Amino acid sequence: MSDSAVDLSAVPAHVACVMDGNGRWAARRGLPRTAGHEAGLDALFDTVDGALEIGVQWLTVYAFSTENWTRPRDEVRFLLDFNRSILAARRDEMHERGVRLRFIGGRDRRLARSLLAEMDAAAELTAANERLTLTVAFNYGGRAELTEAVRRIVASGMRPEEVTEQTIRANLATADMPDPDVVIRTSGEHRLSNFLLWQVAYSEMVFLDVLWPDFGRAHLFEAVAEYQRRERRFGGLDR
Ligand code: FPP
Repeated sequence: MSDSAVDLSAVPAHVACVMDGNGRWAARRGLPRTAGHEAGLDALFDTVDGALEIGVQWLTVYAFSTENWTRPRDEVRFLLDFNRSILAARRDEMHERGVRLRFIGGRDRRLARSLLAEMDAAAELTAANERLTLTVAFNYGGRAELTEAVRRIVASGMRPEEVTEQTIRANLATADMPDPDVVIRTSGEHRLSNFLLWQVAYSEMVFLDVLWPDFGRAHLFEAVAEYQRRERRFGGLDR
């Protein structure tokens, strides 16, 4: 087995990606940042195909953070409209591939009703698919998610001593999902940026020096192979 070959008997169940570097990719080509997001979308779909190919069951991607609202208005508008048009254009294709689409993040007033309706329609259409769950974190922040969980627990009237880690987990947007086995961040940055804070407690982190629009299935396989090498070292029994 070469160093970047994936061991198909030990594929991580859940891979999470911080899709970083779209802006820099565009700037290097003298293009507007939005062109980087468009190229980033192709990278995302190639990654989905790669995940299907090796049998990853859960893929979670950070598409828009609670902090992204501070970006220039035009870019924010583009990302919101973009999400809506992608969903309309690509959800049937995802459905045919057996992908279940999900969205996590705040459903606040800044998101147009038509966008929320598009997200709901895509989630509903694909709800029974079982090959791969693609969760798009949109208007998502880990701290906001935890804050929301605490609010719900308090509102339920639970006594403090009744609250367990299980209670918190059950009140997160990811309640029925396994924790990520591996988190990939592209573009050479080494931060979590408020992504899945609770869920990544034991995840392997793989940082790749490639800008997201240049990412694709080959990089996914490389990251999975890296994860598998670390798992084997950690287990230590077969050495
Ligand atoms: C980070 O790069 C990327 C984003 C904030 C957007 C990610 C969106 C996509 C890949 C398109 C897919 C969209 C949906 C809705 C599924 P950056 O802009 O921070 O890049 P920079 O760090 O180089 O400026």
